[in-house]
Amino acid sequence: MISLIREQLALYNIEKNFEKVVCSPFLKWPGGKRQLLRELLKRLPKTYNRFFEPFFGGGALFFKIKPEYGYISDINPDLINLYEVVQDSVEELIISLKQHKNTEKHFYELRSADRSKEYKYWSKVEKASRLIYLNKTCFNGLYRMNSDGHFNVPFGFYKKPNIIDEDNLIACSALLKKTEIALASFEAVEKKAQKGDFIYFDPPYVPLNKTSSFTKYYKDDFDLDAQFALRELCNRLTKKGVNFMLSNSYTDTVKELYKSYNVKIVEANRAINCKANGRGKINELIITNY
Ligand SMILES: C[S@@+](CC[C@H](N)C(=O)[O-])C[C@H]1O[C@@H](n2cnc3c(N)ncnc32)[C@H](O)[C@@H]1O
Repeated sequence: MISLIREQLALYNIEKNFEKVVCSPFLKWPGGKRQLLRELLKRLPKTYNRFFEPFFGGGALFFKIKPEYGYISDINPDLINLYEVVQDSVEELIISLKQHKNTEKHFYELRSADRSKEYKYWSKVEKASRLIYLNKTCFNGLYRMNSDGHFNVPFGFYKKPNIIDEDNLIACSALLKKTEIALASFEAVEKKAQKGDFIYFDPPYVPLNKTSSFTKYYKDDFDLDAQFALRELCNRLTKKGVNFMLSNSYTDTVKELYKSYNVKIVEANRAINCKANGRGKINELIITNY
């Protein structure tokens, strides 16, 4: 089994073949950018040296453009552990994923695992496998934690969840092998990015109103101070000659924060809680400094 997967990996590493390979995000992530991809792709700078994505989540834009040199980071340790495992140990991950069962009992056993003392002794592969499994089988494929940092979404009762997309994981592994991965807050890009580089910022959005929006991906909320600190970072990066593109909600706060940049209103098709069919068009903002 391992040798078969290795052969496939070797194939994807051959540059010509890799160009044709489609990589898709393998996690469904709140605020994921699949719905906004067309608008983002239209607005990429014509050329850039290195690509940075410091609010990585599911990495929709990164997996679409497959950058030659990428730096990806996020503040969520489970998420970054998963990308490191896909980068280094995709064979073991696939074998581990094949052992999961789509039952309520197995789901709740795995969900509660991070509340036990033994969890800290789990291997990186076991933790990564648990995250993919929970993401594929939980209700709505949501990722949500309680205030102690524990995953708390209920079982989804899906008939055939696609827990292992083997070819895609292998293709993503080949891409991640060319990528630097860091567990870090967004500010860390400042030291890394140089003139001519390009950064895509996709922070937790400024809420549309007090109850509507989800900003709590990890234990800490991404509050207004954090939004302000991000804008200050954008100002310093601009002075340094780094190009950035940023997405955020269509709100007065965001318009005010980025009023000295190019601000475009775009339409996204998003899950909207108050609508009966659950989806609807909503305006969002894409900001660039070029
Ligand atoms: C809107 S999501 C990104 C979605 C992603 N673009 C996609 O396509 O799936 C925001 C991400 O920012 C991360 N995050 C929250 N606070 C952060 C911080 N201070 N520094 C870095 N990442 C942070 C969250 O863990 C989450 O994964």
